[in-house]
Amino acid sequence: MAFPPSFIDELVSRNPIEDVVSQYVNLKRSGGNLFGLCPFHGEKTASFSVAPDKGIYYCFGCHKGGGVINFQMEIENLSYPDAVRALAKRAGMTVPEDAQYESRYRQQERLWALHAEAARYFHAQLYAPAGREALNYALGRGMHKSTLTTFGIGFAPDRWDGLIKALREKGYTDQEMKDSGLVTVSRENAGHMHDRFRNRLMFPIIDVRGNVIGFGGRIMSDEKNTAKYLNSPETLIFNKRKNLFALNLAKKSKQGYLILVEGYMDAIALHQYGFDCAVASLGTALTEDGAALLSRYTDQVILIYDGDAAGQNATKRAIPILEKAGLQVKVLQMRDAKDPDEYLKKFGADKFRLLLEDSSNRVEYQLNAIRSKYNLGVDDQKVKFLQESAELISTLSSAVQREVYGGRVAEAAEISMDAMKLEIQRARKRRAYQDKKKQEQIDLQPAKALQPKSRDIRYDNLKSAMAEENLIAQILREPALLSQVGGLEQSEFSSALLGKVYSQLLERYRQGMDVSVAVLEGLTPEETSHIAGILQRQQEPVNEQAFQDCVHIIRGEHQASGIRSEDDLLAFRDRLKERKGMGT
Ligand code: CTP
Ligand code: MN
Repeated sequence: MAFPPSFIDELVSRNPIEDVVSQYVNLKRSGGNLFGLCPFHGEKTASFSVAPDKGIYYCFGCHKGGGVINFQMEIENLSYPDAVRALAKRAGMTVPEDAQYESRYRQQERLWALHAEAARYFHAQLYAPAGREALNYALGRGMHKSTLTTFGIGFAPDRWDGLIKALREKGYTDQEMKDSGLVTVSRENAGHMHDRFRNRLMFPIIDVRGNVIGFGGRIMSDEKNTAKYLNSPETLIFNKRKNLFALNLAKKSKQGYLILVEGYMDAIALHQYGFDCAVASLGTALTEDGAALLSRYTDQVILIYDGDAAGQNATKRAIPILEKAGLQVKVLQMRDAKDPDEYLKKFGADKFRLLLEDSSNRVEYQLNAIRSKYNLGVDDQKVKFLQESAELISTLSSAVQREVYGGRVAEAAEISMDAMKLEIQRARKRRAYQDKKKQEQIDLQPAKALQPKSRDIRYDNLKSAMAEENLIAQILREPALLSQVGGLEQSEFSSALLGKVYSQLLERYRQGMDVSVAVLEGLTPEETSHIAGILQRQQEPVNEQAFQDCVHIIRGEHQASGIRSEDDLLAFRDRLKERKGMGT
């Protein structure tokens, strides 16, 4: 236990979920729930719900959910203790500090301070005599002095202990240096420490709150046998999938969109040439976390990846990830230059701005990609081009869009618009049929449909798990039911997660404390979301008989575990069909 439970109870009751959420989301009442646009994934229709009576939020779109503390953690990207501190402050409460969290938080603070110190050291080295070559390299690549300052560019000298000495002087311990990832412990020479970054141009990586959390270091040549970039390893404060280079600057841009590029140098060049909304991923492919981060600051992203095959593949992969996060995606195709950095140097900002205005949306981009595969002078290739294009256009939900793009394709292939329309209609029908088939498949596979959305939570015994879910949902709505569990034990649950939740709730109930999602402990965000989802989907009123049925099923399944047969699942499927009124 971290903070005293009674403190958490009071914290939760003094921070009503609807009040806290309202600070970030515009909520409208609908029945017992409040609805708004989900702050965790971009969307146009409100699927984000808040249930004041249950003290939870839950998004029916992205399936994020939990209590007020989880919300505070997610929305501000805070750790549990930091979220508790923020809510305490909001409610004017004093936090009884817990030693364990306290030390972890202190450790983070020390690492941030250490990184700031390291950034200062590297930056100073750039202007020291030893940094001569690095400075010339940076200037030679066209970076202005002001750019070097804005980005805090630095130089790691060609020594084994330059940084170590500088940090030691400032009072950092060996352990802290090792934890920072900036100092490496040599394997051969057991225990011997040395600087990770040597003889490299240093790019500080800064999070949206302005903390230096890591570094990328580039060699100052184009030799092929050393890795061009070396990056900080993952640490307590650095997660490369959840951060983007230059977002600390780009988030202040007034452009209304963000430009996503592949390289540090590209982002820096763009900023220098006045495109202050550029960010770069940190040497990894774009992830869902990265897309979610972007969607906090914009709803439109322009992708500018390198023109080579790798860049094109990365573009193809990034589009759906960005769209899934609710972002509108445009793609800018580089011609006559391998990346934005080179383009800007060759052709200047004005030419680039034209390119930017010309950047196509993802449909145009994909149509171009299809087009480039075929030779329209050859009949059967032309047919393939038309079919593939129609397939793509048929996915558009707007009739206007279908008309516009259909027209373009018809023109390119020199066929009539009517013929093209017909082709698109056929593709739409085919798609509708396939979707229906897919849905039927799902309906016939209850096992699959009922499994939790998060891959980390799997139910081994669906029948029992459904009863366990139901039981927990009822308890969360009517804690007094916990007096009627008749000795049901955690070990009788088939799902470890649900068993854990049950035992926490039971324990709290016995001690006369609050029983709600908000006070659950030790769950991952996915697990909390899953519990909130169960509660929010379960609309049937509390019913003692149904509750007893659940207890009975859980017990029975536990006793029978090990001798289960296929028949159970079949019977279960039949019942589900009946319930859905599908007959057999
Ligand atoms: N990268 C990396 N490790 C490497 C090579 C690349 O982490 N060995 C990452 C870096 O984040 C880099 C990005 O991939 O910025 C894109 O690579 P590249 O286009 O080669 O880098 P640029 O930033 O364009 O660098 P430069 O123009 O100096 O070659
Ligand atoms: Mn480059």
